[in-house]
Amino acid sequence: MKIVVLAGGLSTERDVSFATGSMVCKALRENGHQVILLDVFMGYSDKPEDLDGIFDRAEEVSIQVGKITAQAPDLAAVKASRKDQSDCFFGPNVIELCRMADIVFLGLHGENGENGKVQAAFDLFGIKYTGTDYFSSALAMNKEVAKTLFRANGIPTPRGISMSRKTRIDEFARLGIPLPCVVKPCSGGSSIGVSIIRTEEEYIRALDEAFLCEEEVLVEEYIEGRELSVCVIEGKALPIIEIAPLEGFYDYKNKYQAGSAVETCPAVLPLDITQKIQHYAEEVVKALRLSTYSRMDFLLNDNNEIYCLEANTLPGMTPTSLIPQEAAAVGVSFGELCERILQISFEKYQTR
Ligand SMILES: Nc1ncnc2c1ncn2[C@@H]1O[C@H](COP(=O)(O)OP(=O)(O)O)[C@@H](O)[C@H]1O
Ligand SMILES: [Mg+2]
Repeated sequence: MKIVVLAGGLSTERDVSFATGSMVCKALRENGHQVILLDVFMGYSDKPEDLDGIFDRAEEVSIQVGKITAQAPDLAAVKASRKDQSDCFFGPNVIELCRMADIVFLGLHGENGENGKVQAAFDLFGIKYTGTDYFSSALAMNKEVAKTLFRANGIPTPRGISMSRKTRIDEFARLGIPLPCVVKPCSGGSSIGVSIIRTEEEYIRALDEAFLCEEEVLVEEYIEGRELSVCVIEGKALPIIEIAPLEGFYDYKNKYQAGSAVETCPAVLPLDITQKIQHYAEEVVKALRLSTYSRMDFLLNDNNEIYCLEANTLPGMTPTSLIPQEAAAVGVSFGELCERILQISFEKYQTR
């Protein structure tokens, strides 16, 4: 197949997305596809007049990718470096190349990629893409909306309240949430802007930091416990993975710097807890109307109480990311996983 793997963009997870994109691109090429790796924001403008037969030159026109650094990228610098300085999110020739592909593999993470906007635009442009649709993406992206749907469907989630800049509550006592608690951007990802606060004094700074990222912020009760994640493919949960950071919580550095966390898959858990978490993950998929593949994050406390934090609709896809490890636990290689995601996403369009 002719495939565009889309990565980059303007989200705080831009660099992570390049890691996903380049690994997926490599795997799909090994599977025999013609694959162009494209930065959705920068586009392709070297030879704009000559798009004919471009998939035959797929490797040559693809972007080259570096390593993920310990800090989130400087997005203002990225914006300033685009040649055409257009205010269009899609870079030069991105829509044209995606329309020429049989399907687009979405390697994007975070805002504009994971929030459903790219999916909605692609629906209108007649471009096929991997992963869930625009509506379920938008529902899952907003943690407050997702938690409301979790509660309505009997899926336990930490107590929390959300606020906008206008409804911001500076007085900690008014929240009715005990310390410690967690302050996080409502739609963020990769733990950017997330703070765990243990004293009232830390609250305002944490709130300011989260509002730097976004217009809506969530304050949640802190759940002391084990960090677990589980992927659901086509409605069925894979084995659970446990993530134990060596230091602190599962923040940006611990997520992407090798050796920062011990990851165990399948997680060592009593069978009934495993089944319960897998069941909740499958229920999240129904509650948020997710399709194809997604990954749900959970916490499990010492009393074996389970809490669902969120659903990730375009989770990391490098061979060392969580989903590929879960797939490996059932004997599915990274290349097979990429192929499966491609095929189930493609099939969605055949049954319409
Ligand atoms: N309520 C909470 N209690 C304890 N830790 C939390 C809580 N919410 C978030 N965290 C920590 O912050 C990390 C990121 O939070 P999450 O809600 O998954 O957002 P995202 O991964 O989208 O940034 C979690 O993996 C966990 O380590
Ligand atoms: Mg998470």
